[in-house]
Amino acid sequence: MTALPLFSPMLGAQRVIPVLTIDTVEQAVPLAEALAAGGIRVIEVTLRTKAALKACEAIAHHCPDVVLGIGTILAPSQVNEARDAGARFLVTPGTSEKLALAVAESGIAALPGAGTVSEMVALMEMGFHEQKFFPAEAAGGVDYLKSVAGPLAELKFCPTGGITPANAGTYLGLANVLCVGGSWITPKTAMASGNWAEITRLAAEAARLGR
Ligand code: 3PG
Repeated sequence: MTALPLFSPMLGAQRVIPVLTIDTVEQAVPLAEALAAGGIRVIEVTLRTKAALKACEAIAHHCPDVVLGIGTILAPSQVNEARDAGARFLVTPGTSEKLALAVAESGIAALPGAGTVSEMVALMEMGFHEQKFFPAEAAGGVDYLKSVAGPLAELKFCPTGGITPANAGTYLGLANVLCVGGSWITPKTAMASGNWAEITRLAAEAARLGR
């Protein structure tokens, strides 16, 4: 089996991935620029809004220095849509076999989601050694990741779901954690009012986490 492309080489020193829900295309580029101004250039845009794919296209076109990930991929057809919109990496919240195959065949780096040891092992069998652990806090959090580190020693995770500035550091201290994901960097109020300065401030704080 050919090795699947890894996500981690794109991370650089960044250890926090903002998980973004973008309501309007107009928000996309100012948001990506605000995050980059705070030192956050690796981002995940979720496919949860009508505007999401167009927002991704805008970021891919106007912000070449941003490493664009596309997340909340639930169906194989969305893998192609994400590629066409400029995805440099793919993220799924959970991963059926059909979805995992589509992601593997895309040749795009990915963080496929797993929430249990069996799901982690199934993905590992397919060659995915870097995975999203979701929903991290609800599924067992730091203790769960500590427990799987022994048997699943070759896996690295991006825990996401319930991560906050208060607990991010503990996750980032684990040897099997590559980075964490979270939505706290882009509060709904700041997004809605276009308060990009606030988002740059939160991004700069997040960029310092884990360093
Ligand atoms: C998500 O998919 O919504 C992400 O995991 C973000 O979760 P959070 O809002 O708890 O950070």
